[in-house]
Amino acid sequence: MVRRMLTINGDEREVEAPPQARLLDVLRRTLGLTGTKEGCGEGECGACSVLLNDEPVDSCLVLFGQLCDGDRVLTVEGLGSPKHLAPLQRCFINESGAQCGICTPGMLICAHALLIKNPRPTREEIAAALAGNLCRCTGYVKIIDAVEKAAAIMRGEKE
Ligand code: FES
Ligand code: FES
Repeated sequence: MVRRMLTINGDEREVEAPPQARLLDVLRRTLGLTGTKEGCGEGECGACSVLLNDEPVDSCLVLFGQLCDGDRVLTVEGLGSPKHLAPLQRCFINESGAQCGICTPGMLICAHALLIKNPRPTREEIAAALAGNLCRCTGYVKIIDAVEKAAAIMRGEKE
């Protein structure tokens, strides 16, 4: 077992886990953050995406022992809460950008990473940012609509 001081969704926490444990399993099983989903388990689908120090990573490919003290992890639980959904979350609901929902946490996380860096992305830039996130349900157009609308809300141009 190894211990790391991590900032998880803004809270500093000491986390203990085997070094070979996948970050995905540490989040879901050790920390109970089940919003992050497992799809393929091999770095192909993006369902398990989280932000590690503001960069999207596939948490199924990151081993706990690779983390360093002080690393920051953001999961979908850190974007908003059921009572206070983030604009991205609201727009995914309102634009029907989520159906079965398996891909949705990863989509939200990667869209959030994009909007941190680029508050006014083009549709092409949104598609590129989400290129590693596979969705079997929506056909992507509604997902891009949702991110575009959320970006406008976050810029204060829409409610
Ligand atoms: S579950 Fe990690 S990329 Fe598919
Ligand atoms: S909403 Fe079902 S896989 Fe995307």
